Formats: sequence, C-alpha cells, structure tokens
Amino acid sequence: MRKTAVITGSATGIGRGSAIQLAQDGFDLVLADWNTKDGEKTAELCRAEGVLADFIYADMGIEKDAERVVDFARNKYSKIDFYLNNQGVVHDPKLLHEITEEEADYNIHTNIKGTFFGLKYMLRAMLEQEKGHIVLVSSSSGIRSETGFGMYSATKHAVVGLAQDAAMEYARNNIRVNTICPGGIMTGMTEKIGAYMMQHQFVQPKSAAGLLREGGLGEVNEITGLVSFLASEKSSFMTGAILSVDGGNTL
Ligand SMILES: NC(=O)c1ccc[n+]([C@@H]2O[C@H](COP(=O)([O-])OP(=O)(O)OC[C@H]3O[C@@H](n4cnc5c(N)ncnc54)[C@H](O)[C@@H]3O)[C@@H](O)[C@H]2O)c1
Repeated sequence: MRKTAVITGSATGIGRGSAIQLAQDGFDLVLADWNTKDGEKTAELCRAEGVLADFIYADMGIEKDAERVVDFARNKYSKIDFYLNNQGVVHDPKLLHEITEEEADYNIHTNIKGTFFGLKYMLRAMLEQEKGHIVLVSSSSGIRSETGFGMYSATKHAVVGLAQDAAMEYARNNIRVNTICPGGIMTGMTEKIGAYMMQHQFVQPKSAAGLLREGGLGEVNEITGLVSFLASEKSSFMTGAILSVDGGNTL
C-alpha cells in the first residue's frame, strides 16, 4: 500500500532534503512552506522521483493555514502516515538584552505557534485514522541553550516540551511523536548566521562545541537518513525520543 507524508518548512534545507529522501522511499507528499517559489521547486524535484507531490502555501504560525495543509492531505489521501514538522526561523546572533520584541515574536510565531498548530491539526487527523507518526524538528539549542541565540533556544526548548507532552498524551492512540535536534547543519540558515557573525565580529560567550570534524558543519543528508528511518516501520517502538544529530555539540 502507498504511504503519504506531510512536510512543513519544505522549501529549502533540511525540509527539501527530507522531501526528496521520502520521495525516494516511495512516499506521496504534501509539502507546505511560506516560500512558494522554492516550495514549488521541491515538489517538482519529488515528482521527478516518480511520486505524487503537491506544494501548498502556508504560514504555519497562522492557525487557519496549518489546518488547511492537514485538510488538503486528508482530502487527497485516505491516510497520513508521517508528518515532519520542520519549519523554523532564527534571529541574528546577539545577547539577550539586545533581542527586540519583533525578533522574539518572529521566533515564537514560527517555532512555537507553527509547531503547535501543525501538531494540533495533525493529531486530530491521526486520532481519526487511529495511527500515525509525527516528528518535530527542534535543535541542539532545544537541549542546551546556545549563547547568542536566547529566544531561538527558548522556542526550540518549547518544541521539545510539545513533543514530549504529545508523546505521552497520544501513545494510547497509537500515535508516536519523536524529535530530531539538529546542530550545525550546512543550510541557508547556518550560512546567514555565519555571515552575520563574521560581519559583526560577534563572538559567542560560550561557543557551540562540536566534537566531530573539529566543530565543522554537517550536511543535510546526515539528517535525512534519520528522517527516512523514522518514517519507516523500523522505528515502530520509538516515541518521545529526543534525537541529537549535532556532531557532539550538546555533550
Ligand atoms: N541548519 C541547522 O544547523 C539547524 C540546527 C538546528 C535546528 N535546525 C532546524 O531545522 C529546521 C530546518 O532548518 P534549515 O536549517 O533547513 O533552514 P532553512 O531556512 O533552509 O529551512 C527552514 C524552512 O522553514 C520555512 N519557514 C520558516 N517559517 C515558516 C512559517 N512560519 N511557515 C511556513 N514555512 C516557514 C522556510 O521558508 C524554510 O523553507 C528548522 O526548524 C531549524 O530551526 C537547523
């Protein structure tokens, strides 16, 4: 039987890489993002792998948008097997007393409200179908606060909190909820942060300390292999797990 996955935050980076990986694994896909141009491109790349893939515009921090993504998937497919809640934003590296209300709101909107709304409507769909697997993307900053990223760290801790609550509340409904915590993966997000740090000569009071590769960055495909495993039945006894893929950054 064919399998279906929904991925939010799928236009670029880890989301796009995960979409292509799941297409290669044979999943039909519903892909959402607020970046339509790159999101449509991700869908095209997935269709080239021989599966069905639709892109839908959604600002996941808006409840109606999150609901629309899940409704689309429910109407098109008989069930949703896997949901990767991946959208995320970060603020420029700065100390806590320098972070503006606007930057705080921006991070809360996507990272907390976006995750909550995605989770809420996907749980409703999976309760109806009496089965499902949800993976939230947090961060190494959701395990150990990363200096210079105060509000981002706070929002990514919230993602872990939501995942653990949901894992406990819905295990009896055959719905699993796990969390991936990437750290230092080469994407547009890390490129932008690196450029800002160089330009402003920002030095973290306590730097992130990856042990592998002398602190060098990881690649998107070092996350997508884990996504592929989690989306498969091989992960069937896992729920509530917080999985680090960060080169040792959180040790
Ligand atoms: N790259 C890393 O080192 C790293 C480390 C820790 C955590 N993460 C997390 O991994 C996830 C993917 O990040 P990435 O590195 O691939 O960066 P990225 O910027 O390439 O991807 C983030 C995606 O989320 C989308 N997005 C953001 N806010 C949205 C919203 N409100 N509604 C819909 N789409 C939205 C963006 O358009 C983009 O496509 C994020 O949650 C990020 O916090 C990444």
